[in-house]
Amino acid sequence: MKAAHIVGERRLEGNVRVSGSKNACLPILAASLLTDEECVINNVPRLSDIDTMLEIFKTIGVDSSYISSHTLKIQARSLSCEVPEQLVKKMRASIYLMGVLLGRLRRVVIHKPGGCVIGERPFDLHIKGFKALGCEISEKDGTWMLDGKNLHGTTVCLSGPHGSTVTGTVNVVMAAIKAPGRTIIESAAIEPEVIDLCRYLISMGAKIDGIGTSTLTIHGGEPLHGCEYTIIGDRMEAGTFVCAGLITGGNIEISGLEFGLLDSFLHSLRKTGANVFQNTDGTIHVQSEKPLVAIDVVTGPHPGFPTDLQAQLCVLLTQSNGNSTIRESIYPNRFMYVAELNKMGANIDHTGECAHIKGSIPLKGAHLWATDLRAGAALYLAGLCAKGDTFIHDIFHIDRGYEALESKLQMLGAKIERITVD
Ligand code: EPZ
Repeated sequence: MKAAHIVGERRLEGNVRVSGSKNACLPILAASLLTDEECVINNVPRLSDIDTMLEIFKTIGVDSSYISSHTLKIQARSLSCEVPEQLVKKMRASIYLMGVLLGRLRRVVIHKPGGCVIGERPFDLHIKGFKALGCEISEKDGTWMLDGKNLHGTTVCLSGPHGSTVTGTVNVVMAAIKAPGRTIIESAAIEPEVIDLCRYLISMGAKIDGIGTSTLTIHGGEPLHGCEYTIIGDRMEAGTFVCAGLITGGNIEISGLEFGLLDSFLHSLRKTGANVFQNTDGTIHVQSEKPLVAIDVVTGPHPGFPTDLQAQLCVLLTQSNGNSTIRESIYPNRFMYVAELNKMGANIDHTGECAHIKGSIPLKGAHLWATDLRAGAALYLAGLCAKGDTFIHDIFHIDRGYEALESKLQMLGAKIERITVD
């Protein structure tokens, strides 16, 4: 097994470029199956989640190969409608196969993806959308069978108890693209990754109105063609590096991100007194000059504060003057990392969907265990500012969503290495 070993208290300085967005790449890979023509995708992040998606593709007949380090060629000349259970359980985003296979083949047999530590991950809104499109769905022993022979345009609202659904919006858009007639999706998710997916579908010849708004109109049934496309940068990786610069009192520049994708996050950081701003070319500048002050934050669907940067902010707030509060409105259980931070001397109390964070607490190095992708990234940040050595285990979680995180941090001056542990 691998672990990350970090020697803390080193200022980060220099430039880092983020990789392509995992959460834009996964739906874009899936959407490539809506045509039998060749698709070329640039800025693909080299992550284990991408590998898993390509593994699933291979089992259902998709040809894919890297034509350069970050450019993928994909072609789905013919497809099987049955998705293997053991791979679906590995990654929730395999749910995207439902939308594309329903659209392309009108038939899908797929096992329910697993839940995960950040909380209950229902699919009721996905199912609601597919049924509104005329799909008949039966379930047996945890496997869904979808029959889309009567697929047609519809109007459907995808709002749930925690706002809209990112994967649900994408799934219904991809099925609607192939459903004859007009489909209107109300309360669609407007995350940048959903917008990137819609732009990709437009480049394949799809007709979608309202991109970037919560009402999408899809003119379905038209054939799609192959295309070449470049994926947006990963805003969650960028936000993680912003926190790394601030928590080490450093001075860094982060490139590779479009302008305006992290406005709410950067606004919250500026409320702590952080000197952080984004140029119109998307480059983010982080200069730590003075101690940060406590703030209160509530996570929410875009354009709100992203839940995927909540853990990283929490670590930063342990070093700010005063007491802060974070309320997690998307995944109330998304505080598994708190126990690990408290092992380092942090004083964080979380009840229900709120974490109460005591500031100005010096952290001490410790042995920590990552519980999920973003929590793992937060533990790296804690190790960067802690006194002494920190060892972070189960870093396979990190490899799902961060490309070459240790070498990027080393380039900025961190003393970090990946080691083998029993
Ligand atoms: C996407 O997950 C992201 N994953 C998550 O990033 C991200 O945290 C999340 O959106 C919220 O922004 C990918 O894009 C692969 P949701 P998703 O469906 O689509 C409820 C990461 O670290 N809901 O938007 O699965 C649900 O319980 C990951 O990269 C329903 O009630 O999230 C949650 O409370 C973690 N019914 C809320 O909506 C449904 O049918 C948002 O879920 C679907 C969701």
